[in-house]
Amino acid sequence: MTKPLTKDDYRADDVTVHRDPQRLTRVVKALRSAGRNIALVPTMGALHAGHRQLIREAQVMQNTVVVVSIFVNPLQFGPNEDLAKYPRQFEDDLGICREERVGLVFAPSVEDMYPDGSGGARVTVHPGPLGDELEGASRPGHFAGVLTVVSKLFNIVQPTYAVFGQKDYQQLQLIHRMARDLNFPLDVVGVPTVREHDGLALSSRNAYLTPEQRQQAVTLSAALTAGAHVSSQGADAVLKAAHGVLAQEPGIELDYLELRGTDLGPAPENGDARLLVAARVGSTRLIDNIAVLLGKGDE
Ligand code: PAF
Repeated sequence: MTKPLTKDDYRADDVTVHRDPQRLTRVVKALRSAGRNIALVPTMGALHAGHRQLIREAQVMQNTVVVVSIFVNPLQFGPNEDLAKYPRQFEDDLGICREERVGLVFAPSVEDMYPDGSGGARVTVHPGPLGDELEGASRPGHFAGVLTVVSKLFNIVQPTYAVFGQKDYQQLQLIHRMARDLNFPLDVVGVPTVREHDGLALSSRNAYLTPEQRQQAVTLSAALTAGAHVSSQGADAVLKAAHGVLAQEPGIELDYLELRGTDLGPAPENGDARLLVAARVGSTRLIDNIAVLLGKGDE
């Protein structure tokens, strides 16, 4: 039977916030016994319209109770990354969960998730070779940190569905692979990127941009769109068009622009592919990606 709430787990109006992983596991088990499906939306907080979209996609799945996790996972940040300054706005996040009628929020502390400390020796999930490419090349250890925390969340929440954004496309592919390779009995659902009116992909890190950098940042999505527009002419044309747009904005420091297959293997000559970009705008690292259909055109 589910124990009553304590001071560590509390009800914020109609959203119940659980801090304790074991207690949440008991609560979701009771819900599953009552015939409900659990849909997990893992987040690091600083919720925005992109997260609202993930929540809404989770809600339309059959007979679900949505659990939003809010946890800034130290394991996925490198030593020179923005862990300390990563935006934390828990009360605003709860407000968004309330507006979106999320019933359960899981907001553990670092100690709850990593009782032995997040810096010492521990068992982690190895992402395989794809974890060292693209984002992984610039952020060593990042995907081991992501997959470790996501696997912990999967075990704690035991969801039927787990919902992630396509903006972090490599993360989504690795989570798909992890669920398959490690036999997690759940469906991983990818949700299309939500964009600002001018195309900029929504990201919690956009909050770091100055107004000038905000203008420069739109070049990333503009480059991807330019590439996608000429996709019928093949891979070289796609990359040339996208590079051409990026070259026009000196405020962008390109990390990579790559065309890959949808599984992030080599891009096919014809057919579905993914164009991915990462760049620094000032000190903020942004990523974006777009679907492209490669094919031989007549131009
Ligand atoms: O995409 C994110 O916000 C994070 O990488 C995730 C999946 C919540 C794991 O910490």
